[in-house]
Formats: sequence, C-alpha cells, structure tokens
Amino acid sequence: MNNTHEAIEAHLGEVRRFAPSAQFAATANATVTIYDEADADPEAFWAACARKLEWATPFTKTLDWTPPNATWFSDGTLNASVNCLDRHVAAGLGDRVAYHFVGEPEGDTRTITYQSLFEEVCRAANALSQLGVVAGDRVAIYMPMIPEAIVAMLACARLGAAHSVIFGGFTADALAHRITDADCRVVVTADGGFRRGAASGLKVNVDAALEQCPQVRSVLVVRRTGQEVSMHEGRDHWWHDLVSPQSPVHEAQAFPAEQPLYVMYTSGTTAKPKGILHTTAGYLTHVMTTHSLVFDLKADTDVVWTAADIGWVTGHSYIVYGPLCNGATSVLYEGVPDAGGKDRWWRIVEDYGVTILYTAPTTIRTLMKWGDEFPLAHDLTSLRLLGSVGEPINPEAWMWYREVIGKGHCPIVDTWWQTETGGIMATPLPGVTATKPGAAMRAFPGISIDVVDQDGQSVGNGGGGFLVVNKPWPGMTRGIWGDPERYAETYWSQVPGRYFAGDGAKLDDDGDLWILGRIDDVMNVSGHRLSTAEVEHALVAHEAVAEAAVVGASDETTGQAVVAFVTLRSGFDASEVLVDNLRALVAQMIGPIAKPKRILVTPELPKTRSGKIMRRLLRDVAEHRSLGDTTTLLDPSVLSMIDDLMRATPSDD
Ligand code: PRX
Repeated sequence: MNNTHEAIEAHLGEVRRFAPSAQFAATANATVTIYDEADADPEAFWAACARKLEWATPFTKTLDWTPPNATWFSDGTLNASVNCLDRHVAAGLGDRVAYHFVGEPEGDTRTITYQSLFEEVCRAANALSQLGVVAGDRVAIYMPMIPEAIVAMLACARLGAAHSVIFGGFTADALAHRITDADCRVVVTADGGFRRGAASGLKVNVDAALEQCPQVRSVLVVRRTGQEVSMHEGRDHWWHDLVSPQSPVHEAQAFPAEQPLYVMYTSGTTAKPKGILHTTAGYLTHVMTTHSLVFDLKADTDVVWTAADIGWVTGHSYIVYGPLCNGATSVLYEGVPDAGGKDRWWRIVEDYGVTILYTAPTTIRTLMKWGDEFPLAHDLTSLRLLGSVGEPINPEAWMWYREVIGKGHCPIVDTWWQTETGGIMATPLPGVTATKPGAAMRAFPGISIDVVDQDGQSVGNGGGGFLVVNKPWPGMTRGIWGDPERYAETYWSQVPGRYFAGDGAKLDDDGDLWILGRIDDVMNVSGHRLSTAEVEHALVAHEAVAEAAVVGASDETTGQAVVAFVTLRSGFDASEVLVDNLRALVAQMIGPIAKPKRILVTPELPKTRSGKIMRRLLRDVAEHRSLGDTTTLLDPSVLSMIDDLMRATPSDD
C-alpha cells in the first residue's frame, strides 16, 4: 500500500472537513456573500443571472407561481441556440473550441470551433425546416456521443421545436414508446456508434421502433460506422445528402421564455417512464449559472469534461447548454472508459489539458478498482476541480478522487440534482464552502432546500427525513409530458406546496446536507435511473412468469444492482436457460442497463394480508441482511424460504 492509500484509510471512519483552499478563494467566481445576497431576494438573484442571457425582448416579470405551476421571465423572448452560438461568434469568439471530440476508435478526433458549430447548426436547422419541422414540434434524437447529436439538439432549439433525446442504450421498444408518447414526427439517428470496440446498431433499432410509430414521416441518418443499413425510400435521408449542402446561414427567430426546449424521459415509480418537460429561459439561466459557479468556470482557459452521456440530463445541462451558454470549451468522448486501455481517460485528460472533470461515482469506483498505476502514468496536473453526480459517493471513492486524481488540491463538488430539477440544486461552492467526503453540503444560492419528516416538519440539524425544495426555481420541470395530474401528484402533493424529490437525506450536526438515496421504487444502477415496476413489467411479459418483484440491492461498483424474484406459471420449471431468457428479455425490452444481476425463481412472494408484495423485505434478503419485522406478512415462512434459497443459490452473474 502506498502513502496515498494510507492517507485515504486514515481519513475513513471519521468525517473529515476540508476548508476551501486559499488558491480557490482568491480567484473563485463565487464569493462568501453570495448565499446571503441570494437568500435576501432569490427572485432578484435569478433575474440578475437571467440578464446574462441575450434577449430579443427583455423580460419584466420574474416569477409567476400558481402551485404547482411556475413560469419564469415569461414576457421575455429569446432563442436558445443564439444564446449558445451566435452571440459568442458575434463577440469574436468564433475561433474558440466548443468541443474537442474524441471518438472511441484511437485517433478519431475532431476539433469543433464555435464558428463551425454555428454553421453546422444553421445547416441542420435549414434541413429540419425542409423536412417540415416547425416551432412547437417534437423531434426524437437517438444517437451516439458524436458532435452531430449536439448539432441536432441545437438545430431543434433554433427552430423552437423540442428535442427528445433517447439514450443510445435503449432498445426498439423503449424507443417506440418514447417516440409515441411525445408524438415525434421526425427522428435523427446514426447508422450506429462505437462502443466497447465494436459498432453498435442504432438505425436498425429505429427501423424496428418505427413499425409501431406510423406517424414518423422523416428519419435523418448520420453515417458514423459505415455499417450496412436499410434506407426507406421517401422517409430516410442521409445527413451528408440533406444537411451538408444546406446554407450555413439561418436567421433565428425569438421564442417566448417558456417555449418547450426538450422532453427527457426518466423512470418513475410506475412502469411508464415520464417525459420531463423543460422550457427555455429559466432552464438556460439555471444551467448557465450553476455551470459557472459550481465549476468555477474560467471560459477562456478551462477545458471542461463532463463525462456523461448526452442521452441523460447531465449531458443536456453540462455538456451542451451550460457550457455553450458560457462560451466554454468541452471534451466530448464517445466511448467507454477502457476502450484502448484502462488509461484511456487519463490520456484524454493529459492530451487536452482537461481542467474540470465531472462524472458519476460508479465510474470513479471502477477507475479506482483498476488501480492507481493508470492515472499515475499520466500528467494530470491540468486538473483543478473535480465533480461527482448521480448517486451517493462513498467516502473511500471520494478520497481516492481527491488524493489520486486531484493530488489533494482539487476541490470536489458533490452535486445533487435530478432530471426534474434541470440543474444542480445542492453542492459545495469551490473557494467558498468547505467539503466533506460524501456530503452535498448545502443548497445552491437562490435555492431553498429542507429535510422534513412525514408531517412536513423540518427535522433540524442531526435529523433525517425527506428532501424537499421549498420554493420554485428557474430550471424546474414544467411538467410531465401529457400528464399534468401525475406531475402535481408525484412532486407537489406529498408535502403540500413543496417539491418532493423522492430522496432521503440527513442534516449533520453542522447543518450540512447528506443525500441518502431514493426512498421510492426507483433504483439507481451505475447512475442510471430505473423503475422497479418497469423491470417487473418486462419480466411478466414472459409467458413463464406469473409474478415478479424487483429490488435495487447495494452493489460495490454500480451503487445498486437489479435483483428480481419471480414466480412461475404452472407447467413451467426453473432452469438456467429460463433465467438467461428472462435477463435477455429485460435487455431487449428496456436496454442492457436494466438486466437483472440476479434472478431468483421462487414458489411464492412475500405478501401482506392485503396482497401487497413486500419489496422492502426482499431488499433485506437481496442484501443478505437479517430479516426485519415480518409481522405484517400473511405468511412469514415464505420470506425465510426465499432467504434460504437466496443463500443457497450461486449468483448467476
Ligand atoms: O437519488 C438521487 C440521485 O439521482 C437521482 C436523480 O437521477 P436522474 O434524474 O437520473 O439524474 C441524475 C443526474 C442529475 C436523485 O433523485 N442523485 C443525483 N445526484 C446525487 C444523487 N444521490 C446522491 N448524491 C448526489 N450527488
């Protein structure tokens, strides 16, 4: 064990507090007075932030709040794409790099300046117009992590059409559901992408999905991998045929502040994913401000690498809209962390002089497991700030990140937020707030967060309970696409008048905030949100399955892992083949990320007298904990039998 690891271990078991370094305090974008200033008048704080955008018509109203519906800056007009591109080009920053693109295959790189991105977005906007896309439409984007994905998003925004980006790991069924729910008429995709050294197929999934979506009239296809794909006459168009010859000029129109910008599907507590709607001005204000202050962005010198997928909200807010609104330079990496060697990430940091690295704990834990020799073989001295997002970070991973990657001098910002919140809600501010390994510390300025009990009463320092947001904020979702009742019920009715996040949290004795994880039936696997109901729904679609109960069990690397308990219909027997088929079915219906790590076939499931499956107790079984209070069960022996079975059956992963 080297000295660094001894230092890490010495810090575990006690809660360490790291004061902001003098270096950061001297030059930080945020100052110590920011919290008080924002608290004194949050609306004025956000209005001042919003004025940093370029408006066609300046707003005069800041917030209109009729619970549970908020509008921000509603009488102003602007264009999101102009704010990301045109204004930087007009300010003479056209030669600044917007993205250093790094494809998964070695040597496949592109440098994209603000000028070239602007021109390509204009071409794509002209092409989408030609395909009939108009303001108010929705366009589905199903692409690998390549620059054209960002171009397509910004081209939609330029036209006032909302994009719905669907993660490339989702399969045809999931894709079809999302396309139908948002009533998309145009799909932008690629033949495939590069992942784990091979070409994945995307167009083939679009073709299968569109068999269920007759309303889709046009598909735009980027040639990325060169694989054979079928093109449907009249419906499908190659990007290089339709977009590339277009004019690089496109006059952008201004749209209302509340123009829908995008819909992003995420898992809730039911089998039906929710289309989370974000609108323009409030969202841009939130992500631009947080990107600048949380990451202490110096746009003319920093190289920001948000290592997330564009198919999730982190990519939308901190690869696309936040950095572009701020005129920052980002790295966009297509592939997995070990493509071309376990030091691939650190080579990218060294090659591009990455200064700000933002990723999920699951990746940090994986990189940590591979060993220090990989980061140590590279010059990482360009790094000056590290961020974490998506799930609770365990203190050991936090300390490794700080000591081995950040060499003890990079502040770590553990940022809590959600698809629904649009941008970061709780985080330390570098140079201002102290940090503790595993704590999100406090609400971002202008945001009011509390931890409350069942009755909505504040728990106070030293207490634990539910995380709520007390007041509306600019980046908050404006609703669930097509389902206003579910929006009101899910987020605003549990603690009346306050936003209910679905997370458990505690305040320590210093009043610092610790996020404990979901308290509902939402799992967090490798930072991906999955609903237990969605996986159960896939399992019972198999003819052999009578009932299924799914839980998220703690997992060292992925945070949580999917564990399923199924009972079979009569005439079917448990077998390894059946279990393999069930896992494959889940992968096919939802995507490989949802594949259960374990599936246990059991004669019965533990139920209450009213017939409700007790998932809480099944989680105890899956985590090999001693069984808690089983008195509410109709037949407690069922649970002991499952527990014995679980211990006796070798893991099938
Ligand atoms: O449980 C919380 C967890 O991720 C959930 C939100 O997931 P999603 O909408 O996919 O967005 C992820 C990226 C913003 C939350 O309800 N979560 C997110 N950040 C943290 C976290 N849990 C603990 N600490 C965090 N920093």
